[in-house]
Amino acid sequence: MYALAPSILAADFARLGEQVEQIESAGGNMLHIDVMDGVFVPSISFGFPIIRSIRKKSKMFFDVHLMITAPERYVEEFAEAGADGLTIHVEACQCMVDTLEKIRSLGMQPGVSLHPQTPVSAVYPYLDKVDRVLVMTVNTGFGGQQYIEGCTKKITMLRDEIKRRNLPVDVEVDGGVNRDNMDKILEAGANILVSGSSVFKGDLAANMHYFLDGMKKYEEA
Ligand code: DX5
Ligand code: ZN
Repeated sequence: MYALAPSILAADFARLGEQVEQIESAGGNMLHIDVMDGVFVPSISFGFPIIRSIRKKSKMFFDVHLMITAPERYVEEFAEAGADGLTIHVEACQCMVDTLEKIRSLGMQPGVSLHPQTPVSAVYPYLDKVDRVLVMTVNTGFGGQQYIEGCTKKITMLRDEIKRRNLPVDVEVDGGVNRDNMDKILEAGANILVSGSSVFKGDLAANMHYFLDGMKKYEEA
């Protein structure tokens, strides 16, 4: 399975509902939702009311990326707000296994993420507990940054480890993904691409089609 997950962090929030509909009608089936608390990362984004509002408008898979300290405090609330997948940071949570199990028990798909500075082996203990690993390829907390080249080898190492252990885990890459580097990232072993600025800047539908068409050959291979 290959998927594109447009990140609404780059949306025009005055027209959020409309842009979510445009993504879905352009063939999108996954939406990336970045929640930041101003503590785990310097910035604050948005929370439950936004997720609840767009949940009413969309059937897409809501891929919620929690950049918050002690995410175990809010698992029920995100389930209730309409998250389908809930990804927590390995650096943010003291009780990873319990929290990942709780996420699954509430009917969501658990995911684990890591900062670009964190060694990829930090997520290996949780690979049998998650549906996806979200590899951050820019400094966590802001959109519109440049892809950190040194992260490509982490994607490859992670994909190799998942293959070696024969686990059904998605490798999702988040940060600085664009038209020029998407192939390199997919060839390194990613199967889900998150993209904020490269999807929302300019013609949203045309950008969606560019990414989705570019991913087709991997799906067919
Ligand atoms: C950053 C967020 C990303 C961000 C990506 O911490 O996790 O999802 O929206 O934005 P771009 O694609 O612009 O790098
Ligand atoms: Zn994200």
